Order: sequence, then C-alpha cells, then structure tokens
Amino acid sequence: MDKVRLAIVGCGTISQLNAPGYLEHPACDVVALCDPVRERAELRAAQWGIAPKIYTSYEEVLDDSSVDAVELLTPTYQHPQQIVGALEAGKHVSCQKPVSTSVAEVETIAAAVARATTKFRVTENFLFYPPIVKAKELLDAGVIGEPSMVRIRTVRARLREGSGLVIEPDAYTWRRDPESNAGGLLYDDGWHKFATAMWWIGDVDKVYAMVTKTDDFIVEAPSAIMWHFAGRNCLATFEYASASEMTIRGRYYPVDEFFEIQGSKGAIWVTRCTGEMLDMPPVVIVKGTETTGVQVPMDWLEGFSGSARHFIDCILKDEQPAMDVDFSRRVLQAALALYRSAEQDRPIDPRSFS
Ligand SMILES: NC(=O)c1ccc[n+]([C@@H]2O[C@H](COP(=O)([O-])OP(=O)(O)OC[C@H]3O[C@@H](n4cnc5c(N)ncnc54)[C@H](O)[C@@H]3O)[C@@H](O)[C@H]2O)c1
Repeated sequence: MDKVRLAIVGCGTISQLNAPGYLEHPACDVVALCDPVRERAELRAAQWGIAPKIYTSYEEVLDDSSVDAVELLTPTYQHPQQIVGALEAGKHVSCQKPVSTSVAEVETIAAAVARATTKFRVTENFLFYPPIVKAKELLDAGVIGEPSMVRIRTVRARLREGSGLVIEPDAYTWRRDPESNAGGLLYDDGWHKFATAMWWIGDVDKVYAMVTKTDDFIVEAPSAIMWHFAGRNCLATFEYASASEMTIRGRYYPVDEFFEIQGSKGAIWVTRCTGEMLDMPPVVIVKGTETTGVQVPMDWLEGFSGSARHFIDCILKDEQPAMDVDFSRRVLQAALALYRSAEQDRPIDPRSFS
C-alpha cells in the first residue's frame, strides 16, 4: 500500500480541524465523506476543494471496498458501534476522543481490536500540539529534574465576535443529553487533560474531585480535581473555571489552557493551547534564576494536522499509532473516576472501574 484512501465520517464542527492534515498528506486521498446531513458533507467537499463520494449512511462507507480507513468524527455515544463495525469490515480506524462513554464499551472495542488485522487509535490532538510535544522532550531529557507537580488550568471565556470556529447548532444538543453523554466538559474536554498528563508522567492511581454541577449539564465550573501518578512521587491539579464576561484572543474554541510541570531542577510552562490568552512564548523553561522562552509552532490546528499525519504514516509503515485501546481505556477510567469521587466525596482508584 502506498496511499491510504480515507473516509471522513461526521462532517460537523471538529471536521473543520481534523480534515486539513489528511488533505495535505501526499499519501492520503480523502475518497468519501459521510454525514446524515447531506448538505453538510457537500459543503465540506466544496470548502476543501475535493470531489469525494458522499454517503448519508455509515453502512455504505463500510460496504465501500475502495475505503481503506475511516476517521470517525461523530457524536461520542456512537463511537463504540462504529469502531467495531469498521474493524470488522477490515478498515483502519481513527476515532475522535473520548473513545466511548463507558469502560464496558472499551472492553468491546478492545476485543474487536484484538481480532482485527487493521490499526486502531483514538485521535488525540493534544499529544501532537508542538508546545506539549516540546514539554515532553524537555521532561524526558531531564531538563527540570524529577517532576513532582503538574498544574493544569482551563478557563472558558468568550472569543471576539466572529473570530472562532463555526460550531454546528446540534453539537451541543447531544452533549447536553445525559442519556448520550457520560458527563459535561470535565469529561469531554477533561479527557485531553488526563491524556496529556498521563502521556507526560504516567498512569493515575488516585483521583479526588470537587465538581460544581449547574443547570446546564455540560457546564461544571468552578471545579478542581487532584490526582496521584502511580509509582511516582508526583501529583496533578486540574482546575476548570468560567469567565463568561472575559474576552480572550483565539481562533477556535473560547477556551485557554495553562500547564506547569514543576520538577526538582526547574519548571516548564505551556502557556497557550486552544486559545491565545497570554501574550507569551508557548513554552517557558524556569530554572530558578533564569527564564527562557522556547518558540515552536503554536497554532492550535498544528496538533490536529500532526495527529492526522501520524495515523497515515503508521498505516503505511505498519506501526501501531499512539493512543491505542489500552491507553484510551486508562484515560477514560481517570476521566470517569472524577465524577465518582465528587459524588462519594472520597478518592477513587480509576483502575477499579470496570
Ligand atoms: N479534539 C478536540 O478538541 C475535539 C473538539 C470537538 C469535538 N471533539 C470530538 O469529536 C466528536 C464530534 O464532535 P463535534 O463537536 O464535531 O460534533 P458535531 O455535532 O458538531 O458533529 C457531529 C457530526 O456527525 C454527524 N453524524 C451523526 N451521526 C452520524 C452517523 N451515524 N454517521 C455519520 N455522521 C454522523 C452529525 O450530523 C454531525 O455533522 C465528539 O466525539 C467530540 O468529543 C473533539
């Protein structure tokens, strides 16, 4: 195989960020788009300047022998069935996070992955965002010594009128339905924060959370979550706050992140991710008396494009892509453990979730 023929399934909000990396890849042809809303798939084809087959039913994609791989960008509750269906149809599968809404569903996916001869991974753009990748390189090179604390701040604010991504009107309908969604933004967006911290440091064995529930199912601010990394003398704090009257710079979602990894010899800051709130270098190394800014590409789109490139390259090289089913299970367990901790007001070992 020297080219991957890809179908993009789900042409809603996030397809605007997921598609460019595939469209730019010289060894990838986007041969099909699928969405029950035909006009949405047709609009994307026009925006991306391609003439793919347009399908309104997923089964048609699975029946199409000219499709080698699928990128699933559908509402989360549909992921398990669609992943299993595609693996059984002999397609390579990349699926947007979160992998599913329950651990039981991941077990079903894991069984299908074990039977399959094709690749499976979850699309996690944070693991390909250059400032986060740079922080991982610095950590692994021992630049800040032994890490003991990871601080993750997320603030949801507002973007200047007209400056953000076009969000489809139904994107929040399924998210706000407790029957379809495992939690609010602490699960949907918090998944990224657990995935990043676990990629940097390792697995989690204890989660403790204070979660504010509001009239809006997805708005869970202010909230604060702490966890301990298994086998490490290292903790994490993850804060989620709302600043609904504060306007920030940004081109995508009205959210801004700030990460700090404190080590025995210094600290690393990642000062921007989704938004562009702080006018600072994207990575800063703090060594007590010295502060050094590190410039790397910092457009949020970079993480999505890197993730797309990685999937195609791994298929062509016959290698397992990052964010396999086991890592995805552990991230989901941690993200779900926070709710149980808040409900029961006690620390929870995410590994106990089945
Ligand atoms: N990585 C990130 O930063 C990020 C950001 C947003 C969303 N996501 C994830 O991406 C997924 C989609 O989120 P979204 O915000 O784009 O949602 P959305 O509602 O905007 O888009 C979903 C699209 O899927 C289509 N769809 C529904 N059922 C389908 C089916 N059976 N077959 C094909 N298409 C179908 C819908 O018509 C819609 O166009 C979710 O899992 C979400 O968690 C990730």
